[in-house]
Amino acid sequence: MEYMQKVKKLNAEKILYYYIFTMGCQLNENDSEKICGMLEEMGYKKTENQNNADLVVFNTCCVRENAEDKLFGKIGEIKKNKENKDVILAIGGCMMQEKHMVEKIHKSYPFVDVIFGTHTLHKLPEDIYKALQNHHKVEDILDIDGEIYEGLPIKRSDNIKASVTIMYGCNNFCSYCIVPYVRGRERSRRKEDILQEVEQLAQEGYKEITLLGQNVNSYSGGENYGFAELLRDVNKIDKIERIRFVSPHPKDFTDNVIEAIAECDKVCKLIHLPLQSGSSKVLKSMNRKYTKEQYLELAEKMRNRIPNVVFSTDIIVGFAGETEADFEDTLDVVRKMHFEQVYMFIYSKRVGTPGDKMENQIPEEIKHERFDRLKELVESQMRENNEKYIGTIQKVLVEGKSKNNPNMLAGRTESNKVVVFDGTESCIHQMIDLRIMSEHMWYLKGARL
Ligand code: SAH
Ligand code: SF4
Ligand code: F3S
Repeated sequence: MEYMQKVKKLNAEKILYYYIFTMGCQLNENDSEKICGMLEEMGYKKTENQNNADLVVFNTCCVRENAEDKLFGKIGEIKKNKENKDVILAIGGCMMQEKHMVEKIHKSYPFVDVIFGTHTLHKLPEDIYKALQNHHKVEDILDIDGEIYEGLPIKRSDNIKASVTIMYGCNNFCSYCIVPYVRGRERSRRKEDILQEVEQLAQEGYKEITLLGQNVNSYSGGENYGFAELLRDVNKIDKIERIRFVSPHPKDFTDNVIEAIAECDKVCKLIHLPLQSGSSKVLKSMNRKYTKEQYLELAEKMRNRIPNVVFSTDIIVGFAGETEADFEDTLDVVRKMHFEQVYMFIYSKRVGTPGDKMENQIPEEIKHERFDRLKELVESQMRENNEKYIGTIQKVLVEGKSKNNPNMLAGRTESNKVVVFDGTESCIHQMIDLRIMSEHMWYLKGARL
């Protein structure tokens, strides 16, 4: 806080702009909202044009390889801007928790001013102050797990839907995944802090809350207070109309959590249930702690307990040792589950994870070929799934004008499908009933009753 004021003083009477580029998951998006909050407190104004910016922040992700090339490209663009004017370049996020990446930046991009990690977000104002004051490089990375800092200012990117991080880090060490190494061990926020944040959001007019964490259903808010209890408490908060959460881990879906989802009317009955692979053998080498059968049984149990529940998932194609038969198991689960949405990824080796050293890595062309086959199946199922909506009446939370057609409005169903319809501005930010008229793969068309 002190340093936010100090930077504000340094910058007084200047009109300064910041540009932020965020990669990765919703947790990173939520961190960026806090970064924006801090920067605005320091007197910077937001710009969408990186060439206008006096301060550039990159919030990085390293979960898959392609992010690296993207970052280096962006750094190169800012280097050119730095030649013409004083620009502070700050790079933070998950990639900066990887030693080899920080070394690479030191060596190849010595003009980067601030490097900050995922555990030192709250110190960004201090880092920027030092960079402005001394014109020297600041590096602020903690290897150990950071503490939880409450009360950072936040500038939210949406005014009807908000994300609330409930826990940080991950203890699962899936063998393909870098997240536990860059985000540290699991730490849960105090339930009082979470509930207070949601109350505040409700007062500000937010209607949809997404509870965030790498493993939300292992949330622990004290003795006898877990994720189920948190869901029940958030469900009681007035004016909040929808509650979502990502990502849960199948192994932590206790009966208590399933019961809470069923009982809480505001909790959306779209459950993200990350599969990763449908082969029990691959799941074992991924360290996922469930088999194909256990996954399907869990989904069945939820279907029996939660009326009209639907699922979305994450799948990795081409993990080390995945045979054609293993891949067929994945397709088999997809056929059986009828997911509303499937986020598909080609396996990408991450330095420092067990997967990186496994033998029997799958050649790129086979990975791609399998990916295409999975995509084809998913898309054909999506059509089928969408057709089920036609003629039904859906509750839609209207977000605003449709991105592709400004004459129409767009909103989302409980199952997170986009619905485009003809409506007046007074519908915006309201929950309204629409009849679904037709399906168009990526969205549905609706009409007012
Ligand atoms: N904690 C969450 C998601 C973390 S990362 C969960 O467990 O569901 C988001 C997704 O990226 C993962 O679910 C996985 O499908 C994918 N992913 C993670 N590491 C990957 C890698 N090395 N290569 C390809 N995809 C990966
Ligand atoms: Fe990665 Fe697994 Fe943790 Fe998700 S649960 S963040 S996939 S290690
Ligand atoms: Fe990426 Fe970090 Fe999220 S590695 S997926 S931004 S936790």
